Amino acid sequence: MSETATRTKATNDIKDIRLADEGRRRTEWAERSMPVLRQLRERFARERPLVGKRLAACLHVTTETANLAVTLQAGGADVALCASNPLSTQDDVAAHLVKDHGIKVFAIKGEDHATYYEHIRAALAHRPDITMDDGADLVGALHMIALNRLDDLAPPVRKWVETLSTADRKALVAGVIGSTEETTTGVIRLKAMAKDGVLQFPVIAVNDSQTKHLFDNRYGTGQSTLDGIIRATNLLIAGSAVVVAGYGWCGRGFAMRARGAGANVLVTEIDPMKALEAQMDGYRVVPMEDAAPVGDLFVTLTGNVEVIRVEHMRAMKDGAILANSGHFNVEIDLEGLKKVGEGPKPVREFVEEWRLAGKRLFVLADGRLINLAAAEGHPASVMDMSFANQALAAEYVVNNAKKLSKDVHRIPVELDQEIARLKLQAMGVAIDTLTPAQRKYLASWDMGT
Ligand SMILES: NC(=O)c1ccc[n+]([C@@H]2O[C@H](COP(=O)([O-])OP(=O)(O)OC[C@H]3O[C@@H](n4cnc5c(N)ncnc54)[C@H](O)[C@@H]3O)[C@@H](O)[C@H]2O)c1
Repeated sequence: MSETATRTKATNDIKDIRLADEGRRRTEWAERSMPVLRQLRERFARERPLVGKRLAACLHVTTETANLAVTLQAGGADVALCASNPLSTQDDVAAHLVKDHGIKVFAIKGEDHATYYEHIRAALAHRPDITMDDGADLVGALHMIALNRLDDLAPPVRKWVETLSTADRKALVAGVIGSTEETTTGVIRLKAMAKDGVLQFPVIAVNDSQTKHLFDNRYGTGQSTLDGIIRATNLLIAGSAVVVAGYGWCGRGFAMRARGAGANVLVTEIDPMKALEAQMDGYRVVPMEDAAPVGDLFVTLTGNVEVIRVEHMRAMKDGAILANSGHFNVEIDLEGLKKVGEGPKPVREFVEEWRLAGKRLFVLADGRLINLAAAEGHPASVMDMSFANQALAAEYVVNNAKKLSKDVHRIPVELDQEIARLKLQAMGVAIDTLTPAQRKYLASWDMGT
């Protein structure tokens, strides 16, 4: 490797800097639909709440994330960004952030496992004061370091940590004043750490804000998952039997959009309340075992492991299509399929054919988030609210780190409501305000008919 190449790798590792102009144009297009984040950026540029702070973000490197990164930079943060999924990086956006904003980006679409973790290492080597995760990979690695569980680190991270002195490892973890987490799966991991008493710093669960999960998980995942499946397959959804595993926020959103496109939707669940809700929303609720022989398309959105197993795959129709839109590629048991099936045979981009029990099964995007692999992730308008939460969460960490316990916190409800108010304003939607009589009525217990 030339000296120049080595130098460049310390500040970025991207596919091709010549893609920057395209990335800039697409990022500006997304920005048009992100009015709340834009307002925050203007305030951040004036007030500089993050000045002097190093921030390492492990997020999907998309046009919306570029707008967040630039907002954090406007607030004074020194930002490093790596990918939170090997397939979700938009290489032109990575190039734009490096070339036009001097942000350190370590992300290449399609990177292998070792490169993915080399990029996590590079983000940690930025020595962050604040980390921003989508799936808790940065915080997870920091905790393996803190607990001296180096064998649980991926090799590129482990090898680097082994070169650090004990004091330096401690300083790396102690340097983090707080963290933010974007998604359900990350929040589950972090709450488990807090429960085990090992969480080393406060974390803000951005996913727990109402202006995040009610909209991003439901409408964002609903639309972009369907978008990803259609782009990957060109499938006609109308008239097909679509099996939705998990009726949480993401599952509800996707089921709604699949039905809207004319599918017969079946839902599988393990939670009686969610199952009842799905049933009353008019879907057919069945166990996966019963759904398997019926479905044309199966989509997992649970945040759980092995939701579709080999026993289910064996029962599927010839030509069944399997996709995942939950965070990690563990919801479809591909490891099990590899042991007993023949394949994979590439069919078209993001579609691989497997043969099992004399039938063909088509797995999309290697079981990884289909909306980010084959489409562009959520539309900017919904990420506007998610990333307004992220920016405010970073500011909240800076202002409150000393007061916050080493636990998983939400940003205050007032900030959440302020985001909703700003979004409505930007959409030109006005709402009523309480009259004095209404306010009094709602606060009283002695007024009846
Ligand atoms: N694709 C995306 O862009 C995107 C966006 C947001 C969240 N996510 C991810 O999607 C996943 C779901 O998120 P959510 O916010 O909907 O979570 P949620 O907790 O609201 O819903 C998950 C649902 O799955 C159900 N479930 C769990 N195990 C199951 C099983 N074996 N079979 C059937 N159902 C099962 C749960 O009962 C729950 O109702 C998480 O991994 C989250 O991180 C993805």
